Amino acid sequence: MARVVWITGASSGLGLYTARALARHGFTVVAGARSFGRGKAVEGCECLELDVTSEESRAAFAARAVEAHGAPDILVNCAGVLVLGACESYPQEELRRVMETNFFGTAAMISLALPLMREKGGGRVVCFSSINGLLGIPFEGAYTASKHAIEGYCECLALETRAMGVEVMVVEPGDHSGGSRAYRGRSAGVGEGSPYLAAFERGTAVIAHDEEHGSDPAALGEKVARALEKRRLPRKLIVAKADQRLAVVLHDLLPARLFARVIGPYYLKDLY
Ligand SMILES: NC(=O)c1ccc[n+]([C@@H]2O[C@H](COP(=O)([O-])OP(=O)(O)OC[C@H]3O[C@@H](n4cnc5c(N)ncnc54)[C@H](OP(=O)(O)O)[C@@H]3O)[C@@H](O)[C@H]2O)c1
Repeated sequence: MARVVWITGASSGLGLYTARALARHGFTVVAGARSFGRGKAVEGCECLELDVTSEESRAAFAARAVEAHGAPDILVNCAGVLVLGACESYPQEELRRVMETNFFGTAAMISLALPLMREKGGGRVVCFSSINGLLGIPFEGAYTASKHAIEGYCECLALETRAMGVEVMVVEPGDHSGGSRAYRGRSAGVGEGSPYLAAFERGTAVIAHDEEHGSDPAALGEKVARALEKRRLPRKLIVAKADQRLAVVLHDLLPARLFARVIGPYYLKDLY
C-alpha cells in the first residue's frame, strides 16, 4: 500500500489532526508548515519547514522529504488562511494573500509532487476545500473564492490524471473546532465608517460561534486517514453536521434567489 504522505499546513487545526491520524495509521508522514522552521513539531511525523507561497521553500521541502523518505505516494494540501471581509472593500493585497496560500500554493505543491508520483506509477492527491467550496456565505468572499477555485481545479486534475494512476480527493469540512485565530484575519476594508460594519459584526459573530461549537477535528483526521486506506479513494469527502449538509443540498436544489433568503437571515438575522 502507498505509504509516504506529504501534508501541508500540518502545524495547526485540521492539518495537525490529520497528520496525527495518518501517523497513527502507520503512514510515513512528512509534515510541512512555516512554524516547523521555528521549532514546532508533531509527534510521529517528520516536520519540515514549508511556506507554500515560496518557490524556494517548496523546492527545499521536496528535496529534504525525498532525501529522507523517497518520493511521495500521497500529497495532502491543507495549508489555508482566511480573511473575513466585505467583497467590495477587500484590499487587493488581502485577496491575493488568500489566493496565494489557499489556491496557488496548492496548485504549486501538486505540480511538484505529481512527477515524483508518476515515477512510482501513480499516487493520490488530497485537497482541503470546505463547505465554502460549495456555497458562499457573507464576509468569507476571499476564502470562498479560493475554495471554489480548488474545487474546479481538482475536478479537472482528476480527469487529466486518472489514466496515470492518480486519484484525487477533495475534503469538504463544515465548521470544526480547533483551528487557530491566528489564521482568521479581519480585512482592513471593514473599519470605522464602513457601510458593512454592523452586518459584518453580526455575520462574523455567527461564523465564530459556529466554529467554536464545530465538529471534532480529531474525528475528521481519522476519516481522512481511513479514506486513504481504501482501495479506491472517494472523489469527495464531505465532513459536516446535518444542517450544513442540508444547506449544500438546498443550494443545489433551490433557485439562487430563494436559497439566499434561507442562508442570508441565518447570518444577518433582522438586518437581512
Ligand atoms: N477549521 C474549520 O472549521 C475548517 C472548515 C473547512 C475547511 N477548513 C480547511 O482546513 C484547513 C485547515 O484549517 P484549520 O482552520 O483547521 O487550521 P488553522 O488552525 O487555520 O491552520 C492553518 C494551517 O495552515 C498553515 N499555513 C498557513 N499559511 C501557510 C503557508 N504559507 N505555507 C504553509 N503552511 C501555511 C499554518 O501553518 P504555519 O503558520 O505554521 O505555516 C497552519 O498549520 C484549511 O485549508 C481550511 O480552509 C477548515
